[in-house]
Amino acid sequence: MCRSRVFAMAMTPFDFRVPSLLLFGAGKAAELPGLVRRHGTRCLLVTGRASLWASGALGAIAGGLEGAGIAVSAAEVAGEPTPELVDSIAARRRGEEIACVVAVGGGSVLDAGKAVAAMLVHEGSVGDFLEGVGTRPFDGRRLPFIAVPTTAGTGSEAARNAVISRVGPGGFKRSLRHDALMPDAAVVDPELHRSCPPPLTAACGMDAVTQLLESYVSLKANPLTDALAEAGLAAAGRALPAAYADGTDLEARSRMAYAAYCSGITLTNAGLGVVHGFASSVGGRFSIPHGALCGTLAGPCLRATVERLKEGGEVRHLAKIARAGRHLTGREGRDLGADLDGLLGLLDEWARALCLPRLGEFGVTEADLPGLAAATGCKDNPVVLSPGDLETILKERL
Ligand SMILES: [Fe+2]
Repeated sequence: MCRSRVFAMAMTPFDFRVPSLLLFGAGKAAELPGLVRRHGTRCLLVTGRASLWASGALGAIAGGLEGAGIAVSAAEVAGEPTPELVDSIAARRRGEEIACVVAVGGGSVLDAGKAVAAMLVHEGSVGDFLEGVGTRPFDGRRLPFIAVPTTAGTGSEAARNAVISRVGPGGFKRSLRHDALMPDAAVVDPELHRSCPPPLTAACGMDAVTQLLESYVSLKANPLTDALAEAGLAAAGRALPAAYADGTDLEARSRMAYAAYCSGITLTNAGLGVVHGFASSVGGRFSIPHGALCGTLAGPCLRATVERLKEGGEVRHLAKIARAGRHLTGREGRDLGADLDGLLGLLDEWARALCLPRLGEFGVTEADLPGLAAATGCKDNPVVLSPGDLETILKERL
């Protein structure tokens, strides 16, 4: 960062929540048993997709734990976690004297594991404690929790919330959130990401990119989140197409894993924008994978945001979006308009090249749009979009 920019930054007061231990790099999963042994000799292993078992990677992890004298109880998670799923796992495992919960999987598995770690020491349903849904304050008590992501996406391994949803009419997608929910350790081993198929790589990668963009231009961004978001965007810029094209490209997988981890920290500390507003409203109504939903809406949401900022003459925010674009595209800065066009063009190009799905493929129809727009909040977006803007965005990706 150049000297003049440091001094140009307004140093307004801010809070910053840091994750705990991170073990990062190829082969780091081998160190998991040592981490678990710090807590005891019995763990609950929460896992997800069958392909990771099929690849032998999960078998090796379970075998490594047992080889280190750790008794392993297992729980499987299919899809995004519901209150019922979390409650049933917790009910089954209470009383087993579990010392530690280890979640190995995508964002849904990590969130499920995080919530189970909490519910193993709480009575009642996790739904009682969810933001905007439950009525009981969550006190943060939980069992030790270790996150081992197998996709590069939500950044849950570096975030202090677990997203729980019930999809359908009257559905919701809400968080169990507390500073104490930050994992005790994250083991980010890109070797585990190599079996992630291209569509999932694209969706998860776009979730990470969206989280970095949204937290970077958020009204709550601070100098530390900016530094991490810039690093994450630069890492993801070239790596996402490469990881999509060749899942065995370990360098690309490493850069995406790093970008996703950074995005977990930035979203925790700077919040998110209108794309994640849609993730709650549309994602609560329709069964659309979170990453696919964010990825498909990222371009239109940013375009609408840029247009409204231009109308308002909000040069400071526009300049920051342009700067995000330079980090993501890796291009030298030209003028403001060209840099903004470069970013919007890249997001459009990725929507095509990564085959991001359209909303209609998941059953969303034009008749649903007014209701969805009305239920969508703009979170910490640098400008508030009108219901009409929100409807236009959805229509564009119908
Ligand atoms: Fe997300």
